[in-house]
Amino acid sequence: MRVYLAAAAALLLQRADALTFPKFELRKPPPAPAPAPQKKLSLFGPTIRKAQIADLEPLAETRLQASPFAAGYAIASRKEAGEKLSDLFCRGIEKGDTVCYLAMENDDIIGSCDVTVRKRLGRGLPKHAYLKNLFVDEAYRRRGIGGKLVAACAEEARRWDVCTLALEVENDNDQAARLYERLGFEEKASLASFESLWRFETFFYGRSILWKANDGVRSSRGAWF
Ligand SMILES: CC(C)(COP(=O)(O)OP(=O)(O)OC[C@H]1O[C@@H](n2cnc3c(N)ncnc32)[C@H](O)[C@@H]1OP(=O)(O)O)[C@@H](O)C(=O)NCCC(=O)NCCS
Repeated sequence: MRVYLAAAAALLLQRADALTFPKFELRKPPPAPAPAPQKKLSLFGPTIRKAQIADLEPLAETRLQASPFAAGYAIASRKEAGEKLSDLFCRGIEKGDTVCYLAMENDDIIGSCDVTVRKRLGRGLPKHAYLKNLFVDEAYRRRGIGGKLVAACAEEARRWDVCTLALEVENDNDQAARLYERLGFEEKASLASFESLWRFETFFYGRSILWKANDGVRSSRGAWF
């Protein structure tokens, strides 16, 4: 018996190379895209102003270029996406429960952010202001424009009867998360977003809900949670 075992072991050792598993080589990540060349700002910097219906077309184009997959646009054609955006935008502005701020440089939209009133972000959460669609053109980033857009939206929300300003940020979006933290937002909850179901890579990361008390508002609605 021992002889057989020794022979089998010797045979195995001889064929050890045949038993090793093929090596898996991790595929190298694709090289990061070159950063967009920075553009100069005019002397007084961009103007931050409220969007009007007339801004819709250039705004839709900017947003589609920035994030064609946002808000379910991926399932729509470019034309449908534009129509969907117009519909939401006009309805929100007419009803007065959505405001969009633009950063304008030489008549071009170089950034935007919306704030809207939301009844619910989950079970039992009170009416609150919700920030969304913050975006700054890559060529103008890291010059305080994102911060100014969020500040303009927060100022708008102070006029509404809401106790909280909330937003969602993807867990791997460090740049945005740092900006929100600097502006006083805190993480309140984490969730695997519904949208992330079709974006496989973010399914595992999920999103965080950040919030900030709506300074200066005396709301009868109490605090979160
Ligand atoms: C997130 C985003 C809006 C930030 O816009 P931004 O204009 O670069 O924001 P700000 O300039 O106000 O702040 C960003 C950084 O620039 C720094 N900064 C601000 N003014 C500056 C200045 N004058 N000089 C140098 N740095 C400056 C800030 O301190 C901040 O640094 P930090 O990342 O270390 O905190 C932008 O990166 C973007 O559009 N990203 C893609 C869309 C997105 O992710 N949106 C958020 C969805 S939740």
